[in-house]
Amino acid sequence: MSQLVDAFGRQVEYLRLSVTDRCDFRCVYCMTEDPCFLPKDHVLHLEELAWIAQAFTELGVTKIRLTGGEPLVRSDCDQLVHLLGKLPGLKDLSMTTNGSRLSKFAKPMFDAGLKRLNISLDTLNPELFTQLTRNGKLARVIEGIDAAIAAGFERIKINAVILKQQNDHEVIDLVNFCRDRNLDIAFIEEMPLGEMDERKDARHCSSDEVKAMINEHYPLQLSNKRTGGPARYYTMADSPIHIGFISPHSHNFCHECNRVRVTVEGQLLLCLGNEHSIDLKSIVREYPGDIERLKTAIHQGIKLKPKQHVFDNSGVQILRFMNSTGG
Ligand code: GTP
Ligand code: 5AD
Ligand code: SF4
Repeated sequence: MSQLVDAFGRQVEYLRLSVTDRCDFRCVYCMTEDPCFLPKDHVLHLEELAWIAQAFTELGVTKIRLTGGEPLVRSDCDQLVHLLGKLPGLKDLSMTTNGSRLSKFAKPMFDAGLKRLNISLDTLNPELFTQLTRNGKLARVIEGIDAAIAAGFERIKINAVILKQQNDHEVIDLVNFCRDRNLDIAFIEEMPLGEMDERKDARHCSSDEVKAMINEHYPLQLSNKRTGGPARYYTMADSPIHIGFISPHSHNFCHECNRVRVTVEGQLLLCLGNEHSIDLKSIVREYPGDIERLKTAIHQGIKLKPKQHVFDNSGVQILRFMNSTGG
């Protein structure tokens, strides 16, 4: 079977695989205060996740990122990393995590074959951290980041969602935190998923504003670093770190999109900002271990990948929350 190329000629080589909708935090931009999580049986089992990953790698996917929710709240996450680590053809196995459990899991995950980590950190102020995550402890996350560095992960990336009048005064502190530890950082514009209200519009902070703040302290130069992701990266004169900007509102990157997602319920979601999807769970449940059948469904599904997200089209609202989509 040929590789995954969509109707617009984009080659899909990157899968974001959501392994749980659960999380120990309740970030204000990600989920409601009192979310209703899926019953366990609705969520893909360990073998099902591994079959789906195998099918994608046999179709030319070389990069898989485990997402959530928070992947590390899933108790068999280390077994999953072991299984995926063995897939021939997989060059890059990574995870996006909130860092809360890394002090325990960074080393075993690294040893199991995880190569790269993106860790969310929006503020260095403990009270604001607890407010934005609704219950998180900043100190645990910083311990987790340091454990990941000690475990041997290279080029860890910090993700910071910047919100006006909340953490926008901390942009330089976050850059300095990353300079001190030799970490990359991506500043993210909040994406309009889930419930929308006027508070979200009021707190929107554009990447251009964040970039201007940094430029005043550290003149930035456009870098040629690309991860195949949405971030545009910059460097500064006196530090090796990369500073990225993920700007779904102000800088559309859809024309070079190389990725698809599988949600925690086994839906192949072809674009974060659209509803086009294919049900892979019914296939793995009806025909367990039938990789060829999965490959056929994925191959056909890729043709449905839409040209671009609808975040810019006023009036269209994606009702999914980030934790069930996998970011
Ligand atoms: P790399 O694998 O290193 O490229 O990571 P990444 O920056 O793509 O992944 P990460 O999980 O760290 O996500 C950072 C932010 O980018 C999150 O807010 C994601 O929701 C967002 N993001 C990732 N992929 C897409 C996408 O295809 N479209 C949009 N609009 N946002 C995305
Ligand atoms: N907009 C932008 N980024 C978000 N994330 C979660 N929800 C949103 C949103 N609504 C980020 C988290 C994490 C990554 C997986 O997605 O901060 O770093
Ligand atoms: Fe959890 Fe990440 Fe969502 Fe925050 S953004 S609630 S850490 S899944």
